[in-house]
Amino acid sequence: MADLQEIKDRLDIVSVLGEYLQLKASGANWKGLCPFHHEKSPSFMVHREKQIWHCFGCHEGGDIFTFVMKMEGLEFVEALKLLADRAGVEISAAADVDRSERNRLLEVLKSAAQFFQKIFHDSPRAQAAREYLDHRGLKNTTIAEFGIGWSAEDWNALTDFLLKRGVPAVDIAKAGLAVKKDDGGIYDRFRGRIMFPIHDVHGNVVGFTGRVLVETAVSGGKYVNTPQTILFDKGRLLYNLHRAKQFIKDAGFAIIMEGQMDVVSAWQAGIKNVIASSGTALTPDQVNLLKRYTNKIAISFDADVAGQAAAKRGLNIARDAGLDIRVIKIPADAGKDPDDCIKKDPEIFKRAVEEAAPIMAFIIERALNGKNLADPKQKVIAAREVLTEIAALPSAIERETWLRTLGQRIAVSEDALREEMRKLGRPVAPNPAATSAESASPTITARTPAEIIEQYLLAFALHLNRDALPLMAGLHPQMFGNERNANLYTTLLALYNKVDLKDPAQMMEAVWKEQGGGDEIAVLRLLVDKDFADFERYDFLRELHATAERLERHWLDEQRRHLEDALRLAEGRQDKSQIEELIVQYQVLTDLVARVGRRTPTSL
Ligand code: UTP
Ligand code: MN
Repeated sequence: MADLQEIKDRLDIVSVLGEYLQLKASGANWKGLCPFHHEKSPSFMVHREKQIWHCFGCHEGGDIFTFVMKMEGLEFVEALKLLADRAGVEISAAADVDRSERNRLLEVLKSAAQFFQKIFHDSPRAQAAREYLDHRGLKNTTIAEFGIGWSAEDWNALTDFLLKRGVPAVDIAKAGLAVKKDDGGIYDRFRGRIMFPIHDVHGNVVGFTGRVLVETAVSGGKYVNTPQTILFDKGRLLYNLHRAKQFIKDAGFAIIMEGQMDVVSAWQAGIKNVIASSGTALTPDQVNLLKRYTNKIAISFDADVAGQAAAKRGLNIARDAGLDIRVIKIPADAGKDPDDCIKKDPEIFKRAVEEAAPIMAFIIERALNGKNLADPKQKVIAAREVLTEIAALPSAIERETWLRTLGQRIAVSEDALREEMRKLGRPVAPNPAATSAESASPTITARTPAEIIEQYLLAFALHLNRDALPLMAGLHPQMFGNERNANLYTTLLALYNKVDLKDPAQMMEAVWKEQGGGDEIAVLRLLVDKDFADFERYDFLRELHATAERLERHWLDEQRRHLEDALRLAEGRQDKSQIEELIVQYQVLTDLVARVGRRTPTSL
């Protein structure tokens, strides 16, 4: 869209962002305290020329639109409108259509919610539904507060009602309320179901989930949900967040449950910092949304296996985003899910919330459960299960703490556990490709210490231009753990050897073209301005030298560990020729390691 560029061109990112936070010049760029996470020293950078921002603390980044969306909690089209107004740019008809369509569909959904509620309260045919909710312990005030309704067992009850009010059939279908027939007609999607309206964070009804009264094979699923529409995206919504957000801030944490009924029950019992993921694993978008209100979650999922599996998937995402995760354990025989437990006795559930333990404590107990710790083999199995999880923690302090706890629990030294953890290999980082496919917002990427070293190295190299070459003599693309960093390194080397661009900006442009675009280069540039604005040339040379050495040593250490493992195996097999071969390799490697420290480049 040409409009986007026009708006970007007319507005200065520094002055727009400057209205939300204090920015100070730093090198050629600007820096300030990140508004999206708590920090004491600034790691939020703005690149005026490229019109992008990036936070090195929470790894969020984007352009002027993503900033305003995040900051104001707006949808893209709303942010577009807001910024277009400021820039004095007429946004194209297409964008206006989007906006008015959104508003139109919101009206349709609002009417539908009222219709379902009216039927629930007034229709004689909703008698069974009223009895059902009563039987499940919901008070009338709760039913009204949550806007719960009933969809009649008709093919056209809702569509007829809306058509009569002048809503076009195409809008009813676009709102997800009706299904299109082959002949072009439409029929009600929700029939004979208890209707729970689902709201966005601003409190607009954007969709529904409908539960059958009786689960039978022919009823077509226990719950039916609104399909994906321009307003409804299951993975970007959290049930009840618009009501719970203030309570979440006050309590300092959010309780995440699986289902609508769980949330409604908890709310009625006075536990109000509750939301639901609606039966699926937490997505990166949901985690980002939640992070606006809290960094701490307590999960209360069903006891069944499927519930646990869904929990596990989403929890990796929450963990990588640095959330403090606790697990609420409903006591055995106190119910199969939160709703069940609260119905038995809300006090039991409240106590379980107070006693919620960090997820790692839960993982440790689960791993040790049923294992005979007197048997070293079983001990190893249990330890590995836990170590895999510890290795994936983003914070080194947390890793240390849990290593100590585990060590004490199973009477093994921390050193031994650390060695075992190393053997398990690199922590499984989230797959950035998979994450970004699921969400349009900036992805959450966990960075390993090695990757951070790689980034600094590349940033220095970019700054120093060809002078960087002799300092990186010992490096090889293989030494980079991150493939994109390895590619960037190769591109840099090729360009240094091909063209002589004295100006770092020209070099940046050239690398940028080679890489086929992207923000990576500009982000590296920001990294230099963030931490090294007052560096002299000499400082850069020294730092690049030190970083290159660290990277090389890190890689060599890793190789040495692989060889050690191979040696151990060969010794176990008593494979003499293999052992000799490996020892030779090991000596070569040891020599290399010794040489790294002795090499002093002439340019220093
Ligand atoms: P559950 O099957 O655990 O239902 O699904 P529940 O919340 O305990 O409901 P009750 O107590 O039996 O009435 C949990 C959530 O998963 C989603 C719904 O959002 C539900 O609340 N779900 C479940 C679906 O979307 N479709 C289904 O077919 C089942
Ligand atoms: Mn339930």
